[in-house]
Amino acid sequence: MKLPNGQNLVNIVRETLNRVDPRLVDHGERVAYLVYKMLQAEGESTPQVLRDSSLAALFHDVGAYKTEEIDRMAQFETGDTWEHSVYGYLFLRYMSPLKDYAPSILLHHVPYFRLRDLDVRHKKLTGLIHLADRLDVLLQVERRAFPEDFWERARRDECFSPLAIDLMYRAMKLWDIAGLMDSGAYRTELSELLVKVPFTREEIDVYLRMLVFAIDFRSHHTVTHTITTESASVEIATLLGALPDEIMLVRYGALLHDLGKIAIPVEILEFPGKLSPQAMTVMRTHVEITGNILGDEIDSEIVQIALRHHEKLDGSGYPLGLTGDVLTSAQRIVAVADVLSALHGTRSYKAAFGKEKIRTILGEMKRDNKLCPQVVDLVCGYYDEIMGNVAENCTAVLDMYNHIQEEYEELLARCMEL
Ligand SMILES: [Fe+2]
Ligand SMILES: [Fe+2]
Ligand SMILES: [Fe+2]
Repeated sequence: MKLPNGQNLVNIVRETLNRVDPRLVDHGERVAYLVYKMLQAEGESTPQVLRDSSLAALFHDVGAYKTEEIDRMAQFETGDTWEHSVYGYLFLRYMSPLKDYAPSILLHHVPYFRLRDLDVRHKKLTGLIHLADRLDVLLQVERRAFPEDFWERARRDECFSPLAIDLMYRAMKLWDIAGLMDSGAYRTELSELLVKVPFTREEIDVYLRMLVFAIDFRSHHTVTHTITTESASVEIATLLGALPDEIMLVRYGALLHDLGKIAIPVEILEFPGKLSPQAMTVMRTHVEITGNILGDEIDSEIVQIALRHHEKLDGSGYPLGLTGDVLTSAQRIVAVADVLSALHGTRSYKAAFGKEKIRTILGEMKRDNKLCPQVVDLVCGYYDEIMGNVAENCTAVLDMYNHIQEEYEELLARCMEL
């Protein structure tokens, strides 16, 4: 399996977030770049810390995709900034490999003089992101000229961290930061940083998983469905005696199979009933959108599994109407797991179905030459074992995911009192 490198992962994340709202993507990258240059000017960070601090900065506004604040985000003077900061914090903490950096995301809009009690470990990056963020909004988003008295005022107001001011000042003396940002050349530098320290298999895994949680910016159900589909696919592949490499392909294919839904309007994703033909046409585009997002950034076998999960053996599926002779075993497994997970879960338009009903429906789809007979027989025959393992594997992550909303409300209330 061809493993994605850091640049591939960031490209996929970029493409994914672009589909939710393109407005913050460039801002995130520029803030990441500014933070990187400040740390580079200081010269004390290891390549790994440089990479991860920049990635945390890249995601500093990720919470805005979920909250309503995205419209106000690109303004220099912002009032209410807690919602996206709190959600961004929870996202980094629970759904990304950057959990150590989460406190800096929570506090990235807090003036420096109010951070006195913050642990030094987090204080530094918080200050850097805060300054980088405001500078980018000032210079790039609002296209204002760099104010003559900026440094002097920034030092006097104590709004920004003295270290951040010092490092930004130094970075701007060392490099033509504004020019590099204007020309877009900063992207190349950022890419080089991202590939310099290779990601471990585990990190790649968590970044890909993070994408699935990003689907939550649109639809809670889809996240639950995806996690169940992934787990069921792995259980089925294992029972069929697949080799570890094939299981890995199945896992990632299943994990990414509905990623394109991130671009489908919520009204369609969460519609409480049967979709109209027009809405169905839009819904079906999620498959090609997945293809566009993934491009060739990840192993093509994984992409093919994702692209073919709605194909049927008799050629009645979509998007290509392929027939069974070209559908591989991995693709058939994920197609069955997808139906199984959909039937088993609650959706906006249906309650969860019980075992007998699910076995009957799968049996009918096998009879009608829609789903692979071998895979359906296995699922029906080992139903309790498969679904028992799926429940066991998914409980922890689904519990965490379901509790995030509660934690969000609590933390937001506490932060608003500050
Ligand atoms: Fe922000
Ligand atoms: Fe920002
Ligand atoms: Fe799908």
